[in-house]
Amino acid sequence: MMKIGVLVSGGGTNLQAIIDNIEAGTITNASIACVISNNPGVFALERAVKHGIPGECMSPADYPDRPAYHQALIQRLKDYGVELVVLAGFLVNISPEMVAAFPNRIINIHPSLIPSFCGKGFYGLKVHEAALARGVKITGATVHFVDEGTDSGPIIMQKAVEIPEGISAKDLQLKVMQEAEWIILPAAIQKICSSNQ
Ligand code: GRF
Repeated sequence: MMKIGVLVSGGGTNLQAIIDNIEAGTITNASIACVISNNPGVFALERAVKHGIPGECMSPADYPDRPAYHQALIQRLKDYGVELVVLAGFLVNISPEMVAAFPNRIINIHPSLIPSFCGKGFYGLKVHEAALARGVKITGATVHFVDEGTDSGPIIMQKAVEIPEGISAKDLQLKVMQEAEWIILPAAIQKICSSNQ
């Protein structure tokens, strides 16, 4: 049973998808050891508490500088015995030290078909606004390993989503979550945790 640590920043709908799949038995070889948010009071932490999962806020504002924050985050994840780090809507850049501490064991969900609409500045609603501005007919989501770049690590899984004529960026974000993110993130965790037995 692999211990996963989920890093969040906001609503936690991707976290909820992981929780639901573990409770439904479609993720068979993983348990959530902790949920850590960089923002206080986010709904993702309420989701953790509701399911009896240790949840806490570690805010960069509480540390003298970014290196100190990242060192504390790495140590906290190690304290929980985390073997796979899952970035589920986590908006803090991952440090090279963190990548080195969890080699090939940090994954991220990005709301586009990488290499489109990814990299610096492409997060949350901005991704969907860029896809609509470009006029693409298909978008989707990608789960990838995290390396020292931004959205640049090896791709694990992708799922395409059709873009209806005239859809708003907000509605497209929800469609991509429902039809892609909430499906491939749990599936990628199951794939990694099953092959790691
Ligand atoms: C989602 O758009 C996800 O693709 C991105 O962060 C946003 C919020 O996710 N990574 P969540 O609802 O907090 O899981």
